[in-house]
Amino acid sequence: MGSHHGPMWRHFIDKIPEHDLSTKTVLDFGCNQGGFLRTLYAARPFKFGLGVDIAVESVRRANELKGDMPLDYRIADQLSDWSGRFDIAFSYEVLYLLPDLAAHARQIREVLREGGTYYAVIGCHADNPLWPRWRGLIAETTNLPVQDYSPDDCASAFISSGFEVAARKFGYDGFVPVDEQSQYYATVVERLTYADEVKVLFRMVKSG
Ligand SMILES: C[S@@+](CC[C@H](N)C(=O)[O-])C[C@H]1O[C@@H](n2cnc3c(N)ncnc32)[C@H](O)[C@@H]1O
Repeated sequence: MGSHHGPMWRHFIDKIPEHDLSTKTVLDFGCNQGGFLRTLYAARPFKFGLGVDIAVESVRRANELKGDMPLDYRIADQLSDWSGRFDIAFSYEVLYLLPDLAAHARQIREVLREGGTYYAVIGCHADNPLWPRWRGLIAETTNLPVQDYSPDDCASAFISSGFEVAARKFGYDGFVPVDEQSQYYATVVERLTYADEVKVLFRMVKSG
């Protein structure tokens, strides 16, 4: 997972209604090598950004790449000191790898300030028509168990944890690369439909 996500990350950022992040502290949950926060900082500079991941080598690489941006990257179990600290949290294609969505919702609730917002994108979900094909392919590339959450499962977990939940189609309308042989897509239309309609962008606001 790396720079090939760049156009999707930029589209994600474009869809976020908060334009001035200069006073905001932000979290990227499941940050991998940190590219999303570097992309976000270039587009909408923030006060401070923390990325967390369970992959030790990815976190090490993210810290190497952060330059002089106001960023830190840590192992995901080091979030307990951050209670109520974040204005906005993000995750991009991470929810389907989390074994307990309710626990994740509680954790995000804990680290957001009152009224804080979590934006989460998921295309790897059980209502994706390509999921039966993808599930096995993804399982071959990760040591983590792959979950079968529908977008409704994601929404329910966050509603139950005290979030106001809204969702939109990801709505990617840029050019989608078409390579010759993909195990993930059989047709060009599958690629376009996935990026436009199947990926879901959630907006979950921590409410009283
Ligand atoms: C599909 S990758 C997406 C990475 C990144 N968000 C991106 O846009 O490139 C999923 C990431 O979630 C991380 N991850 C999986 N389970 C996690 C957990 N319980 N806590 C934190 N990160 C986790 C993985 O290590 C991996 O880096």
